[in-house]
Amino acid sequence: MSDFNERAKNWDVESKIERGNAIAKSIKTNIKLNKNMNVLDFGCGTGLLIFPLIEKVGAIHGIDLSPNMLDILKEKGKNYKNLTTELTGIFEITSTFDLIMSSMVMHHIENITKLAKKLYDSLNPHGMIAIADLMKEDGSFHNSLDGVYALGFSNEFLEKIFKEAGFKEIKVVKNIFIMEKNDKKYPLFLLVGKK
Ligand SMILES: C[S@@+](CC[C@H](N)C(=O)[O-])C[C@H]1O[C@@H](n2cnc3c(N)ncnc32)[C@H](O)[C@@H]1O
Repeated sequence: MSDFNERAKNWDVESKIERGNAIAKSIKTNIKLNKNMNVLDFGCGTGLLIFPLIEKVGAIHGIDLSPNMLDILKEKGKNYKNLTTELTGIFEITSTFDLIMSSMVMHHIENITKLAKKLYDSLNPHGMIAIADLMKEDGSFHNSLDGVYALGFSNEFLEKIFKEAGFKEIKVVKNIFIMEKNDKKYPLFLLVGKK
């Protein structure tokens, strides 16, 4: 993940801020948020998904494997008492949450079956997941495929894996944001599911 560490200082560009805002909007549309919710954002980066939602929930814990990403998040979020951060990976967390969200992280995780089970186990009863990532793409999205384990995801794949992990009320909302790069369009989905 050293690549993300190097990219952290240039991460907060307009297109990524817009992406975070669009994912947050879709989360608000599809999940009823409230001030009692304890939320985990895994692979939170500089917090582009955290800041549009932090005033709608009780607390957000941002975890990431990149110290530089977390340093930027901590500086940006220093006035929020309900924001905590931790330098750790998703498979290492031991607490449980009411909502687990993430943006553009899942394609960097090698074993999605293991991830789905870990997310299920890390939720409180009736907890929700909200995972945004790329819909199936042709491999042209990344300049290098080092650390990329999936060229986007299909509905069928997500529904099967997350259902097998125990999730109910699974929904894949398509086209929540369209990223544009080198004259190509890369649509994102939001996967929602309930424990
Ligand atoms: C494409 S960036 C997305 C950052 C942020 N979510 C956003 O949308 O701006 C992926 C982030 O996931 C982090 N990451 C990758 N694998 C992870 C894991 N297993 N656990 C926690 N974070 C991870 C990386 O360090 C990186 O900051």
